[in-house]
Amino acid sequence: MAENGRYAVVMGATSGIGYEVARLLAAQGWKVGVAGRREERLRLLMESCENIVAAKVVDVTDVHAPAALLDLVQELGGMNLYFHSSGIGFQNIALDEAKELPTVETNCVGMARMVGEAFRYFAGRPEVEGHIAVISSIARTKGLGAAPAYSASKRFTSHYLEALSQLIRIRHIRNLTITDIRPGFVRTPLIEGSPFPMQLAVGPVAEAIVRAIRRRKSVVTINVGYRLLVFFWQLIPRWLWVRLRIAA
Ligand SMILES: NC(=O)c1ccc[n+]([C@@H]2O[C@H](COP(=O)([O-])OP(=O)(O)OC[C@H]3O[C@@H](n4cnc5c(N)ncnc54)[C@H](OP(=O)(O)O)[C@@H]3O)[C@@H](O)[C@H]2O)c1
Repeated sequence: MAENGRYAVVMGATSGIGYEVARLLAAQGWKVGVAGRREERLRLLMESCENIVAAKVVDVTDVHAPAALLDLVQELGGMNLYFHSSGIGFQNIALDEAKELPTVETNCVGMARMVGEAFRYFAGRPEVEGHIAVISSIARTKGLGAAPAYSASKRFTSHYLEALSQLIRIRHIRNLTITDIRPGFVRTPLIEGSPFPMQLAVGPVAEAIVRAIRRRKSVVTINVGYRLLVFFWQLIPRWLWVRLRIAA
């Protein structure tokens, strides 16, 4: 098993940001294992990239998903980076339960399930240089009336990662880095057809993510325009924010 090689698992690699990051890591010489629910896409991804050497169908909402992750790591030959891109999201002004609850199940429960397994994997192997990077979103900044579960799930993700960053100090875990990645709107299937402003191309976003991983950043907001926007956005007091009718 590789201890300090460059072995990456990308969860949610079948489309969008995860797809681009998996290909970029592979192009930069990482050995990559990919996962997601769509088997055909995983197969195509493996065929298209020499360094994508293992794939596994994983549904993060399934209680057996952590075991599937460990199988994938075994097949890959090790894990130094666990990159979690799996996520769903909806505009949901009707507060449709069929959208709200799966969002919580995937983005909160599924994320905690998989990140927890990766954390225990690295914590139990002090000789392995480990890194967990997870995509939250700038949607974490405030509760969004148009996307309640989505914005709340991203706040959950962000807080969870902050908690794990403190936990590694509490437990004196010296071989693990945690990165919270917060992109603005990115042109992927997740927001296809939406009128959102300031949409970023997925290629440069993936490059910024891989750069942040290489630099072992703890938090990164992508990109500079969104860093500025978030800076002012978080200054808006609650009494004013809840009165703003922001819906796409
Ligand atoms: N696009 C944006 O504007 C934007 C902005 C900020 C943050 N983000 C976040 O970035 C992440 C990636 O989103 P994206 O924009 O790349 O969207 P995307 O193209 O729809 O990709 C989402 C990925 O998540 C996977 N996924 C969804 N449910 C899953 C499940 N139950 N188990 C395993 N994998 C699952 C999908 O794979 P399968 O369907 O094959 O399972 C797919 O690979 C998400 O967390 C999203 O919230 C996106």
